[in-house]
Amino acid sequence: MKIKIAKGIEKTSEELIKLAQKYTWFVNGHEQSDFGEPGKISVSQSGNYLTDIYGNTYLEGLSGFAGCTLGRSNSHIIEAIVEELRTNPIVISGGGATPKQILLSQKIAERMPDKGEHLNHVCYGMSGSDANETAFKIARQYWKIQGQSTKYKVISRWGSYHGCHLGAVSASGFTFRRVGAEPLPPGFIHMNPPQCYYCPYKMIYPDCNLECAEELARLIEREDPSTVAAWIGDLVITALGPLPVPPEYPRRIREICDKYGVLMIVDEVITGWGRMGTWTASEYYGIVPDMLTLAKGVSALYVPLSVTVVKDDITRVFTGKNVFQHVYTMAGNPVSAACGLAVIEYIEEHNILEEVKRKGALGKAENDKLPQEFKCVGAAYSIGLEFGMQLVKDREKREKFPDEDAMGKVLVETGRKQGVLIYPFHGSVGTMPSLIVTDDELLKLFHALREGLRAVERRFL
Ligand SMILES: Cc1ncc(COP(=O)(O)O)c(C=O)c1O
Repeated sequence: MKIKIAKGIEKTSEELIKLAQKYTWFVNGHEQSDFGEPGKISVSQSGNYLTDIYGNTYLEGLSGFAGCTLGRSNSHIIEAIVEELRTNPIVISGGGATPKQILLSQKIAERMPDKGEHLNHVCYGMSGSDANETAFKIARQYWKIQGQSTKYKVISRWGSYHGCHLGAVSASGFTFRRVGAEPLPPGFIHMNPPQCYYCPYKMIYPDCNLECAEELARLIEREDPSTVAAWIGDLVITALGPLPVPPEYPRRIREICDKYGVLMIVDEVITGWGRMGTWTASEYYGIVPDMLTLAKGVSALYVPLSVTVVKDDITRVFTGKNVFQHVYTMAGNPVSAACGLAVIEYIEEHNILEEVKRKGALGKAENDKLPQEFKCVGAAYSIGLEFGMQLVKDREKREKFPDEDAMGKVLVETGRKQGVLIYPFHGSVGTMPSLIVTDDELLKLFHALREGLRAVERRFL
């Protein structure tokens, strides 16, 4: 197949793959040969679908890792971006702002879980990694300014992902992502995740006194509260399912952070901006963190944009010689800001949050059936438009598949045959469609998952 790339430049699929393998480094666990797989190089996109270099069109089950929330051809967003590009395109060097950026900050603050009461200051970046890295640096400098410079440690959880920068990967809880970058900066400490299916304490929820949250108090005591700056966590642990935390968990973490003078950072890079049927997961769970990070959905992935939203009580101390020493040249780019505003407008004008609740219920009904239909589904999780399942070889023993990569491959290949891109992840499968997924597309996703699970059982059980 001939692919038109630019004026006067055409390549065949084979030529493009060869060029990609030679000049583009395929990272994130991929081999260069993976460029040749179907669905890896897209040539056009529309709605919730993408077309690859072989002419295959796929429904994307993960919506760009949960970020492409409003589809791939959203004219409202595209027009807003183009207009800003034509009129006010470049970020002001060394700081400064544009009218759209100022308005976006206000609109984001008003959509925080406390509706603009305390979480009011928006600090810009380009990625989720930036947003979390920024939060760690704010926490450390905040305590220094207060004369508590020994408070520098960040507590996070095994099994969570917070990004790829040195700080963010240190806070992340995946050994395979961390080891290559070691030695990591000091001061990043991990606690167990609230993963009931594989409870680290061998207890059964709800008769467990939420030991996984109480561990935070013990850890802070052990480290000494005078050394702990912040806690970071997501409220749906995407990398483990996606797995929603127990309903009481966020409030208990909030109480423990308050008790010990530890800043609570909630990573909403995936859960924020509509995926839960609310603007944030913090709102869904009824808590207000000290800092809240957003990326992905905040620009619906059209342009790089992330934010760290910070409480006024924190930003207030950053004055005089204590201003926050932190800058990304591209942060708060006017084009990104215009995109961010268009995203909020679109979500509100199209009643997306209510639609997510309705479609979430439809997806949950499908997801809940899977453990009854398939022996290899140990547990199924649903929250908002996030659906996950734990895959097991032996349900009685909760025993994992010995070769999870091989099992995942069968799911991916079966999904492709159904015209759907499925994403297994170390023994779990996450489905996070766009927020504009239609009912039929949602059912198509579950149909493809069922076909995949059938193939897994045929092959491995
Ligand atoms: C929960 C969470 N936090 C942070 C990140 C990092 O975001 P980015 O890839 O935009 O740097 C991710 C990425 O998937 C994520 O899932």
